[in-house]
Amino acid sequence: MKRPVIVIDFDGHYSGLARSIRKLKIWSEVLPCHATLEEIAARKPLALIVAGDGAALTPELLSRGWPLLVLGQGVKLLARLTGGNPVEQGSIHSTELNSTDPLFADFPEAIELRGKVQAPPGFDVIAGTATEAIAVADKNRKLYGLEFHPAPQQTDILLANFLQGICGLQPNWSAGEYIDQAVEAIRVQVGKEKVICGLSGGVDSAVAAALVHRAVGDQLTCFFVDHGLLRQDEAGEVMKAFAGKGIKVLQIDARQRFLKALKGVADPEAKRKIIGQQFIREFEAAARQLGDAKFLVQGTVYADVIESGSGDAVAVKSHHNVGGLPEEMKFELCEPLRELFKDEVREVGLQLGLSEKIVWRQPFPGPGLGIRVLGEVTEERLNIVRHADAIVREEMAAAGLEREVWQYYAALPNVRSVGVKGGRRTYMELVAVRAVTSIDAMTAEWARLPWEVLERISRRILSEVDQVNRVVYDITPKPPGTIEWE
Ligand code: XMP
Repeated sequence: MKRPVIVIDFDGHYSGLARSIRKLKIWSEVLPCHATLEEIAARKPLALIVAGDGAALTPELLSRGWPLLVLGQGVKLLARLTGGNPVEQGSIHSTELNSTDPLFADFPEAIELRGKVQAPPGFDVIAGTATEAIAVADKNRKLYGLEFHPAPQQTDILLANFLQGICGLQPNWSAGEYIDQAVEAIRVQVGKEKVICGLSGGVDSAVAAALVHRAVGDQLTCFFVDHGLLRQDEAGEVMKAFAGKGIKVLQIDARQRFLKALKGVADPEAKRKIIGQQFIREFEAAARQLGDAKFLVQGTVYADVIESGSGDAVAVKSHHNVGGLPEEMKFELCEPLRELFKDEVREVGLQLGLSEKIVWRQPFPGPGLGIRVLGEVTEERLNIVRHADAIVREEMAAAGLEREVWQYYAALPNVRSVGVKGGRRTYMELVAVRAVTSIDAMTAEWARLPWEVLERISRRILSEVDQVNRVVYDITPKPPGTIEWE
């Protein structure tokens, strides 16, 4: 077992700290703030990072001898628990972080600071003043507290200073080692049984399949449901990505069945449900065809595990899998990526020989274009949005923006407007272009795309997609909007 640095998290807000730590090649895990002392101790942590309000801090936790870094509000509690006197919060003042403490090595510039705390007995003030400390340390016990949340680049430096400089931790994991260990674990779990895996075209299921294939080879069969709600060339690209790798992939052409099921339905939730149910039917049929598989591969990643809050992923996340699987289908789950962050999944995928195209694919919802064609989903309207979307993707690629922007696509909002095209009055569809930046899709900002890119996208859609006479750019952040329009 890899011994981790444990990040004690509050509502998934600080899981990014674990990602930063793993970039140092030091294994890190996230536990919710209600984790018990036994749960923490069972993992034999090398150090603890406590972020947020510090509710996890208790005298027992402090007594275990684990090196500890407290970030933010929790420093007040740390001060109280160690006999200090936290001063009322409220004032804002600036202090130069000019300390020579190793925690601040390479720390670039002065920071705006909020609040104040009095150093507990036995602690050194390592930033701030004696009565208004903002960073304190008990160097013997390796207990550190910072009364603010550093900016992202500063966080990386601070974590490296604390974990490597102060705690002396060495790298203890790599993607290559992860693959070796995962392959071993899959072999032990699966034995000689058959395994099936539904490919969605997304990176998670693709990497999970590749990993399981490396472990058990032909015991794995994948299937890929073409529901007709895919982007241009998508089905072909997915099949091509797996061709020649020796992985069995069964393509199921379900386009007409999905269209038929969606006929006349305009309500977004009803559409999602229908797509989910149809997917289950296709899944059942495929599973029957594949015989007596005992295991089902799921591309559950660490973000899903953390989001569930308990440290145990829900068996099948409905959002993740277009509606979940029927109760009576009893599979044991094989989830080889459940400890990895998205960027690590990509690294593992590349090391397993998957193409950049698959590995860097932008997230795409299970219900596909079905929730980007607002109102009734028809073949004609799917073709319009598919064509416009292909233009958006081509121009983003041409501008080299594919990896900077989290998601970018065209939606068909079911709005018609008046215009002129070819000297004639038109009354045609409107296309909305959406591009967002995000770290985890929980929040998002609209992407500040260069005008020239937007201009090219608009001009091309208007001239190449016959049924469209107006293009708008969506400048809504999440919240209050969502990334998708439905
Ligand atoms: P929203 O629109 O909720 O999307 O901000 C957050 C992320 O999830 C994707 N998404 C879905 N993925 N099934 C999926 O598998 C769905 O029903 C679904 N709805 C949204 C969306 O593309 C974004 O990445």
